[in-house]
Amino acid sequence: MSDTPLTDAIRRYRATVSSRLHVPSHGGGPGSPALHALWGDLLSWDVTEQPELDDLSHPDGPIAEAQAIAARLFGARRAFFLTGGATLGVEAAVFAALQGGGALLAARDSHRSLLGAALVKGMEIVLLDPERDPDSGASLGVSLADVERALDDQPDIRAILVNYPSYLGIAPDLATIADLAHRRGVLVIADAAHGAHFGLDPRLPRPALERGADLVVLGMHKTGGALTQSAMLLIGGVAEGRADAVRLAISLLGTSSPSYLLMASIEQAVHDMRQAIPARLAVAIDAAQAVRGPARIEVAAPQDPLRIAWRARDAREIAESLALAGIRGEYVDGDTALYCVPFGARAADLEPLRRQVAGLPAPPPPAGLPRRGPARIRPQGALLADRRLVDIGKAAGLIAADIVAPVPPGIPALWPGERITREMASYLVSEASQGRRIMGVDHEQVWVVAE
Ligand SMILES: Cc1ncc(COP(=O)(O)O)c(C=O)c1O
Repeated sequence: MSDTPLTDAIRRYRATVSSRLHVPSHGGGPGSPALHALWGDLLSWDVTEQPELDDLSHPDGPIAEAQAIAARLFGARRAFFLTGGATLGVEAAVFAALQGGGALLAARDSHRSLLGAALVKGMEIVLLDPERDPDSGASLGVSLADVERALDDQPDIRAILVNYPSYLGIAPDLATIADLAHRRGVLVIADAAHGAHFGLDPRLPRPALERGADLVVLGMHKTGGALTQSAMLLIGGVAEGRADAVRLAISLLGTSSPSYLLMASIEQAVHDMRQAIPARLAVAIDAAQAVRGPARIEVAAPQDPLRIAWRARDAREIAESLALAGIRGEYVDGDTALYCVPFGARAADLEPLRRQVAGLPAPPPPAGLPRRGPARIRPQGALLADRRLVDIGKAAGLIAADIVAPVPPGIPALWPGERITREMASYLVSEASQGRRIMGVDHEQVWVVAE
């Protein structure tokens, strides 16, 4: 049996069909000469559901085979290819884990994609503050004690969502959290948007499924080597019965015309994970270690060596001068910058970065967000209600209608459905008046529910 059944099927289709009288309207090239001039042969790979090409919503041909190969590689019961990014994966995982009701436990620094499922299901979310690195303010994930207390106090929690790892590459002790959750009959969803490569090198954390997660979202484009917007959802043993709910969520919330370019790129990435990627990862990790060690530039010691994050008072200027030298990072905001090292990068590729940031003194940690206990929110009400903009200074006592997050560290101060405390409003006023960027705040105003 072939390792790449979907790619093979598309290749056969290209070779045998001379006239495409079906969508997409570029017809594989002739319908869009300008696109064809830009992308050439690539257009002919952009196909659609035809009998021999299978159908992602009810696969029983090459897509089913490709998903089965991926499931075997990751030790999963089922694998679902996704063309709506890790966003669709988080939505589908949350949707499926809470089939039958219950609340979700999540850290405040969870990705906003969980709001999509909250909107559809009307579920409640119990939010926990993550622990923070005292030197940088970076999120270290929720503490075990906080998870345990929340599960004790709110027995209707049916699932917990864990970032594995965070954007900065910090991976919590997933196995211990999963163990605790499973003893209470709670399902564990790992958001591994930034962890598709875990387990492919001994210096990386073990994969989420192996650490006990039941539903795992892999960002195949972020960290798996596939095309942008491609992702995968894996189901482990305990959650096998949720496969139908996952399928339902994907078909309700995703497109009915999934891109074959993306699906074929997922299949190829899975294939490469067994072949070329480990060696290329090893080269990149060596190169990244060479930058990190002498330069002492880590933010909170990430477990993923390919995430190089550093803090400096003039981070933006440094990032701009690197950009002038042709080196573009993932992200820079305030005093924090993040560079993601791609597979196969060599020490020489990272040398300009190393030179610029070696020996930089880190600035003091960002002003700490006021710490909060668990908050229980129902985002659906706040997202669907009439909304209005108010000055932050006048927002105390009102209910937030969107996420508000000072950057860095990017941990949301408010989620939709949260009542804004006086302390939080004055913290946000003070941050905004110092010129700090706050996502969700525009001209010192925030969206609130019009009560
Ligand atoms: C932790 C996390 N989860 C999910 C997502 C959504 O991923 P995508 O952009 O693939 O939809 C992101 C995006 O940045 C993320 O950082």
